[in-house]
Amino acid sequence: MLVLAIESSCDETSAAVVRDGRRVLSNIIASQVDVHAQYGGVVPELAARKHLEACPVVIDQALSQAGVSLEDIDGVAVTSGPGLIGALLVGLSTAKALAYSLDVPLVGVHHIEGHILAPLLEQPIAFPYLALAVSGGHTHLYQVDGIGQYTLLGRTLDDAAGEAFDKVAKMSGLSYPGGALIDKLAQQGDACRFEFPRPMLHRPGFDFSFSGIKTAVLTQIKKLDEPLEGQLLQDLAAGFQEAVVDVLSKKAFKAAKEYGLSRIVVAGGVACNSGLRKRFGQMAEKNAVEVFFPAPLLCADNAAMLAVAGDYYLSKGCRADLDLNARSNWPL
Ligand code: KG4
Repeated sequence: MLVLAIESSCDETSAAVVRDGRRVLSNIIASQVDVHAQYGGVVPELAARKHLEACPVVIDQALSQAGVSLEDIDGVAVTSGPGLIGALLVGLSTAKALAYSLDVPLVGVHHIEGHILAPLLEQPIAFPYLALAVSGGHTHLYQVDGIGQYTLLGRTLDDAAGEAFDKVAKMSGLSYPGGALIDKLAQQGDACRFEFPRPMLHRPGFDFSFSGIKTAVLTQIKKLDEPLEGQLLQDLAAGFQEAVVDVLSKKAFKAAKEYGLSRIVVAGGVACNSGLRKRFGQMAEKNAVEVFFPAPLLCADNAAMLAVAGDYYLSKGCRADLDLNARSNWPL
């Protein structure tokens, strides 16, 4: 089955053509980062307008790169939530129009479901596994028993990990989104110079909290009596990143142990983080657990990741009606 997938939940417009839910023939991503950077964060109304412009373009590019035409498409998968409502509606309306005019089935896919199944596009991974979804809007731990079978084990009670990265970047005078910039600075920094808290690390359960780390960084910045630049900035970034990596890795491995899971998938934009990848690799060896990180292109928001679940649901006969609505909040 040839699935056309469309993603527009936040500030990336993406279209992909995927065969049989595994073979990515194309995965085009148009980022709006430059548009939102000047405002220090995503402006929902602007995001929706930019999706309107980009949607037809990325779909054309995805079809042409895959070497197929619209008539070859057997089904359409689209992110129907969660995300920015205006942004979601653009992708969803496009997907509905295409499915209706081509007379092919349509299915709505949960954005986080896309992220936590993304590594299956690169290699087979046996179920069950533990999935840590870490992005700008989400920090969730799930037990994944199969496609469509998810048990939420923990989630952030305040900021998402990526949101904390972006806010710390902003208070350090870096541009939006700052996660990758903090990562780069942290690689040159001394993580021991500043000690930041590890919220909820020793509490029972698997929930997270990142707003305390962010506030501790702000308090530290206010106390500085020299400009935040050079080695000082690198050390601050390293200390902050170390705290986030520590909490994410220790909680994930503790959950894997408690639930008897020997595989961990880490997905979402923050899964690009070099410190997180390194730490999970080290802990994997020690704990005899296999760890899977998708390639960076599949960590960030992209449409190909939707095709894993999309293809599965379409093959099972699931069909969304044309009254399928976007959901800004939608628990998985
Ligand atoms: O999954 P994603 O592309 O979009 C959603 O939020 O859904 O994730 C974007 C988030 C941003 O917060 C960004 O700063 C963060 O991922 N990010 C990183 C890195 N690359 C992207 N955070 C830490 N280290 C990175 N290397």
